[in-house]
Amino acid sequence: MEQRDLDAILALQRASPEIAQWTARDYVEARTASAAVFVSELSAECEGESPWDSLAGFLATRVAADEAEILNLAVRLDARRHGVASVLLGTALDWAAARGAKKAHLEARASNAPALAFYKRHLFNISGRRPQYYSSPVDDALLLTRDLNHVF
Ligand SMILES: CC(C)(COP(=O)(O)OP(=O)(O)OC[C@H]1O[C@@H](n2cnc3c(N)ncnc32)[C@H](O)[C@@H]1OP(=O)(O)O)[C@@H](O)C(=O)NCCC(=O)NCCS
Repeated sequence: MEQRDLDAILALQRASPEIAQWTARDYVEARTASAAVFVSELSAECEGESPWDSLAGFLATRVAADEAEILNLAVRLDARRHGVASVLLGTALDWAAARGAKKAHLEARASNAPALAFYKRHLFNISGRRPQYYSSPVDDALLLTRDLNHVF
């Protein structure tokens, strides 16, 4: 992520009510040795067709001890089901594994069927449930985990 990506990330975040609504400062502070924000750009022929320029998606992650956490992930509505999130996740898990992560985990809304299908496709299993963890609207959180000891 570059500083110039921030406006596009915030616009995509606002259009994705399923995810955590971070501030610009949160994203800047997420770029440390143990945390990163990855972005995916649209192909050249699609550039300039949207108010958020050429950004197709982003993913924020961090590594603590030997675990990676996927903190935030969204793909533009009109760029979904083209593998954008899969590339972002693969990049993030490779980055985390190179920093010693042996497992990855995240929380997702129990009602977020697309995200649950996405993470299931990428070998995450449901390992816990936090009742009424989310507000606006109230929803359970599902804890999803996977090992990183095999090729993505
Ligand atoms: C979840 C999300 C990030 C997936 O992004 P994406 O770029 O469309 O995902 P991909 O194209 O890489 O999908 C890979 C696979 O995941 C599964 N998948 C993704 N979206 C799906 C959907 N809406 N319904 C069912 N399966 C889905 C499929 O198996 C898909 O493979 P296929 O297209 O060959 O069938 C996207 O829907 C999104 O931004 N949602 C809103 C924000 C959000 O919920 N973030 C996650 C918070 S935990």
